[in-house]
Amino acid sequence: MPIQTTANIWHNGQLIPWDKAQIHVMSHVVHYGSSVFEGIRCYAQPSGAGVFRLQEHMQRLIDSAKIYRMPLPYTVEQLSTAVVDVIEANGVAPCYIRPIAFRGYGEVGVNPLKSPVEVYIVNFPWGKYVPGNEGADVCVSSWSRLAPNTMPSLAKAGANYMNSQLIRMEAEINGYAEGIALDVNGYLSEGSGENLFLVRNGVLYTTPLANSVLSGITRSSVITLARQLGIEVVEQALPRELLYICDEAFFTGTAAEVTHLRSVDRILIGDGTMGPITTALHNEFFAIVNGLNPDRYNWLTPVNVKVAETVGA
Ligand SMILES: Cc1ncc(COP(=O)(O)O)c(C=O)c1O
Repeated sequence: MPIQTTANIWHNGQLIPWDKAQIHVMSHVVHYGSSVFEGIRCYAQPSGAGVFRLQEHMQRLIDSAKIYRMPLPYTVEQLSTAVVDVIEANGVAPCYIRPIAFRGYGEVGVNPLKSPVEVYIVNFPWGKYVPGNEGADVCVSSWSRLAPNTMPSLAKAGANYMNSQLIRMEAEINGYAEGIALDVNGYLSEGSGENLFLVRNGVLYTTPLANSVLSGITRSSVITLARQLGIEVVEQALPRELLYICDEAFFTGTAAEVTHLRSVDRILIGDGTMGPITTALHNEFFAIVNGLNPDRYNWLTPVNVKVAETVGA
């Protein structure tokens, strides 16, 4: 999907014009992938617009940077304020928000510590990410997820997405909407940019953090909603074949939101339609983010922007 530009980008504490947000080809990040980033959505509600779980995303950005010894001179509060500022300055909501911190122009060589840390926050309109309105047809990838103690999965680092690119390209070239990767031990891990949930006999299963997944904020939100709906949630290592015999399956992610899976490796999941537990969680999630149900967990940070879209159920 082509990038839709906005007027301003936040850079190290200031708003700059979109076209001025440029880096040198010798920036460390270009050569060694030394970036950490976030993906956040701002939704429209009848009363205005609100950013979903902004503080949690900013905490994860700070955590990712800490893992990579990348000092970020901003607090969660300062970064959250910066997100609100850039959205309000651009007047674009609903939108997707992309904060990114990386090692800039400094020294050549793998060690990043002498290259300056640059922080940018960009927002732009972005719609549906996983194709398939009737549910996504996905495959198990031939690529495994990151092995423990190689690339840290809990850091949302740009370099991790080379692995994600392999998974996603292979899936799309073979006619699937997305790929599900196994971890190095052959257990289910996650999609190239989504956490994975399965339902069997009324129990909701998801893969634990030790199976090389990102600690998804949508994942944690869905677990909270499921528990509140009285659904048993189990986080445990899951064998690949559970994908083929589960009753329901879905992805969660900021980009993917809650996306039901119709088939895996051309094997239909249940009868292929969105099952009752996925439907309940999907509806509850969208009711909250679209402001149709009360924001009882304080997940939305309001922004002062005239919204462009009518909010539907
Ligand atoms: C690899 C990976 N797993 C899971 C997720 C879902 O995380 P979240 O719900 O925080 O967007 C993402 C998206 O950021 C991702 O890139």
